Amino acid sequence: MKHIDIADILNAKEKYTDQNVTVCGWVRTSRNSKSVAFVEVNDGTSLKNIQVVVEKGDADYKEPRVGMSVKVCGKLVEGRNNTVEINAVPSDIEILGDCPTDYPLQKKGHTLEFLRSIPHLRSRSNTFNAVWRVRSVLAGAIHKYFQSHNFVYINTPLITGSDCEGAGEMFQVTTIGYSNDYKNADEYYENDFFGKRAGLSVSGQLEGEVAATAMGKIYTFGPSFRAENSNTPKHLAEFWHVEPEVAFAELDDVIELAESMVKAVIRELLDTCPEEMKFFDAHFEKGLIERLEDLISHDFGRVTYTEAIELLKKSGEKFQYPVEWGCDLQTEHERYLSEKVFKKAVFVTDYPKEIKSFYMKQNPDGKTVAAVDLLVPGVGEIIGGSEREADYEKLIAAMKDRDMNLDLYSDYLDLRKFGTVPHGGFGLGFERLIMYTTGMANIRDVILYPRTVGSIR
Ligand code: 4AD
Repeated sequence: MKHIDIADILNAKEKYTDQNVTVCGWVRTSRNSKSVAFVEVNDGTSLKNIQVVVEKGDADYKEPRVGMSVKVCGKLVEGRNNTVEINAVPSDIEILGDCPTDYPLQKKGHTLEFLRSIPHLRSRSNTFNAVWRVRSVLAGAIHKYFQSHNFVYINTPLITGSDCEGAGEMFQVTTIGYSNDYKNADEYYENDFFGKRAGLSVSGQLEGEVAATAMGKIYTFGPSFRAENSNTPKHLAEFWHVEPEVAFAELDDVIELAESMVKAVIRELLDTCPEEMKFFDAHFEKGLIERLEDLISHDFGRVTYTEAIELLKKSGEKFQYPVEWGCDLQTEHERYLSEKVFKKAVFVTDYPKEIKSFYMKQNPDGKTVAAVDLLVPGVGEIIGGSEREADYEKLIAAMKDRDMNLDLYSDYLDLRKFGTVPHGGFGLGFERLIMYTTGMANIRDVILYPRTVGSIR
């Protein structure tokens, strides 16, 4: 259908002024007076609408309703306050799709909770238009960052026979439904599609390591699945995961990469999406742009887990979850560290081995592993990573400590047998980055169709 994007018109007003233009879009508002009518049209390419001024004359004018899809041909003219508008007559407006009056987005100012109940329509609101554009620009910026730093984009399998994090949070993949036909679990799995137990991957890391120990530097960017029973504003059952993995790298290199990448993609976002960022600053988090500019222009903080525990214990703060060396940091602790102590993004390193995954490099102290989490104000953890255990014997010992089935990890172990190298990487939760950069407080509002415990649509 021949037409011009409203964004293109608004970005090149001089080029189109006094020209005939055709735009398509959905009616956002419609006002009718005696001789003229005003119709605001939005086609999704911009947060801004274009106003159509309809000279009704003697013609029969059927006022378009909010939500209708229309095609408008008319002359672009200068409007008030440096805007442009389209001059049209009733016959210039073609209604492409009707929209009855029970269209839920009749007026502005719906709550996010209400919009969550209409996921198929909420994208037509300015808030979600801005979120999806930021999401798209950040995704592009992430690819651009890695591609321009010699990383190879790898697609790791989504269906897997091994649990990367070993935390028992895998969704099972099966083609056998409810059945009493099998004597026990072994027999059930033998008869299942893959002849063994399979699940949806919680992380592409294990296969990412396969590729990194051949290509040097790789990244993955795809969905991960977690059957976590966490009904919180920052957990999804299906989230998008950015996972770089680098050979010939130690923990410090992983940290340097994470800081450099986060800063680069936020810079690109601020430069590419000024309108959207102003929108979030005005409507969702006052001072957002300044906070992000500040983040980019300062070094991130750095603290060991052991020091962090001391800081939390000394804080005098009443936490819901008590703080002791060995405990997992909860969101309240993470936020306290980044918001109150460091007042910026902070890397926490060297966690107790018991609360981290089997694959992390064991530190000489025998108690901690070379792990790193990046905590940011407002959200808490957005990145989790580590240097990997590259020593065959030590890795096997850590897996045996956890009663893991070594047969399922034979490929992974082989990497330590055949030319092992120091290597490491991290996982960035893409939705958490979007939350942080937009000020959206609930992860359900930064993905088109959120999947959370007890809810799928
Ligand atoms: O810390 P996690 O569990 O680390 C891993 O999966 C590693 N294998 C990554 C690696 O080293 N390649 O997860 C990494 C990040 C978290 O910091 C968080 O941002 C995000 O993934 N994440 C989630 N995001 C939304 N919903 C969930 N349920 C998430 N679980 C983790």
